[in-house]
Amino acid sequence: MALNKLNLAILISGRGSNMEALIESCRDPSFPAQVSVVLSNRPESKGIEIAQNHGLLTEIVDHKTFPGPSSFEAALQKALARHPVDLICLAGFMRLLSPEFVQAWPDKIINIHPSLLPDYKGLNTHERVLADGRNESGCTVHFVRPAMDAGPVIIQKKIQIKQNDTPETLAGRILEQEHVAYPEAVRFIGENRVRITNEQVTIL
Ligand code: GRF
Repeated sequence: MALNKLNLAILISGRGSNMEALIESCRDPSFPAQVSVVLSNRPESKGIEIAQNHGLLTEIVDHKTFPGPSSFEAALQKALARHPVDLICLAGFMRLLSPEFVQAWPDKIINIHPSLLPDYKGLNTHERVLADGRNESGCTVHFVRPAMDAGPVIIQKKIQIKQNDTPETLAGRILEQEHVAYPEAVRFIGENRVRITNEQVTIL
């Protein structure tokens, strides 16, 4: 492994298309990051198969096999400790991490969310955006803080909402932007261009 690259742990729960966008970016020799491990809390995640097809190391920490969140997170930490990890990228990882876990990785966990945060945190974002008659939406890459979908924003990409958009068409157009935004945010971090001051990000 190249010495000066940012080592990524990508945490997923399902499809893994954002994970794959990161994997593809890491194949570019000039990209300042490399994937150390892909970890899923669901053994049946499609993304795990995709990661293995790319020849990457994977770990499964199935939350259902633990009595509660703290033993699950202890196992997650153990799995992460088996690999060099500088940055944890949550990519459709559907477990809320405890404050203790988040604080154990200060400014080293990032997430992607399919809305223009702080608007539309949580699930079913596209349905809610359409129900509110909004004319734009998008995606956000942000540092993770203990509260759900909160934390300093690194990058947002906007899209215009069309009159005949459905949650599915909107999700599709936003997902395309997610696949651009996530590698871009990781690149900024890998190039050491990201500063957080008073919970606001500046890109140098
Ligand atoms: C993405 O829309 C992401 O923003 C959200 O969950 C979805 C994951 O999709 N957090 P994928 O697994 O990356 O394809």
